[in-house]
Parts: sequence; structure tokens; C-alpha cells
Amino acid sequence: MSRPYVIDQLISAKSIAARIEELAREIEETFAGTEKLVVVGLLRGSFIFIADLVRELDLPVEVDFLEASSYGNAMESSREVRILKDLRGQIEGRDVLVVEDIIDTGHTLERVVAFLAARNPRRLKTICLLDKPARREVDHKADLVGFEIPDAFVVGYGIDFGQRNRNLPFIGVVRFIDEPPVALDP
Ligand code: IMP
Repeated sequence: MSRPYVIDQLISAKSIAARIEELAREIEETFAGTEKLVVVGLLRGSFIFIADLVRELDLPVEVDFLEASSYGNAMESSREVRILKDLRGQIEGRDVLVVEDIIDTGHTLERVVAFLAARNPRRLKTICLLDKPARREVDHKADLVGFEIPDAFVVGYGIDFGQRNRNLPFIGVVRFIDEPPVALDP
């Protein structure tokens, strides 16, 4: 049987929406004048973020998806990142924005950026909703970050714990009920 846990809210749905508006303005500035921006969502964790983000963008966009292997059903990164599902469209000579849910150790984004850069896009930028800088193992930074968060396991707004809790409208921290709460303020 799985260990019982509760979810403590960390970022409200309202704060996420407000931050997405700001991020959209930054993306519009970066890609002003683009013929068409290819917005690439990393499956599955980014599906709600990308849906909200593209609706805020006042730019011509195309949406595509890529799937990389990540945690599986565990709470630890495997570090070995494989591409499970490739893009449908071509990105050579095009403007591309990769949309990721969380940058944790950094292995996934580093691998995905190298994979896509090899196809010679015109510009390739990355955006992550959440960044856990304390856990970084590779020197890789997203161009845009929604929120920096502490070293805690989070769920909601598309992000899962063993495929559960993706449908929460907010971001929350998983707390096992036999453990004390994580100190969220440094
Ligand atoms: P990285 O390769 O360690 O940067 O891991 C990135 C991926 O790990 C993310 O796209 C998520 O799928 C997963 N991940 C990292 N932290 C969490 C978390 O707190 N909750 C759920 N998934 C996470």
C-alpha cells in the first residue's frame, strides 16, 4: 500500500496565472516579429502550463510535444534521459521555445536542448515554471523561470507524484503524514 501523504499549498492558482501573464510579455518581447514560434511542451508535466501560456501569448504560435523519460514512478531522478517521443514538425531555421514544468537536477533540460539544438533552429529558448536550484547537478539554466522553489517534492498544475495529483489547480508540496512539514521559507 502507498504511504499516506497530504499536500500543502505552495503556489496558488492565482499567483500562477499572474506570473504567466508576466512571462508571456517577456516571451513576446524576445520573439517580437517572429514568423511563427514553435512552442514545444515536454510531456507530460507541462501540459497545463503550456495550455495557459500559449493562450496568453500574442504571437503566431505552433504547438508541438516531446517526451523525455524522467522519474518514472519514483521521487528520484534517474539521470539517464532518453527521448521517448519526438516532435511531429521540423524546427530547422525556426524560433523554438521549450516549455518544461520543473528544472531539478538539470539533466532533462540539458539533454533536450542538445537534442533540439542539433537540428539548427534559428533561436532556441527555454522556460520552466519551477526551478529547484538547490538540486542542480549540471550547469544548465532555463532562459525564463516562473518561480524558484525550495528542495521539496511538488505536485499539481500538471505535475504528478506516481501519476497522481496532476489535476490540482495549484502547486503543492507532498508531505508524508509521518514526517514533519518541510521548512518552506529559508
Ligand atoms: P531533472 O532532469 O532532474 O531536472 O528533472 C526534471 C523532471 O523531473 C521534471 O520535468 C519532472 O518531470 C521531474 N520532477 C522534478 N522534480 C519534481 C517534483 O518535485 N515533482 C514531480 N516531478 C518532479
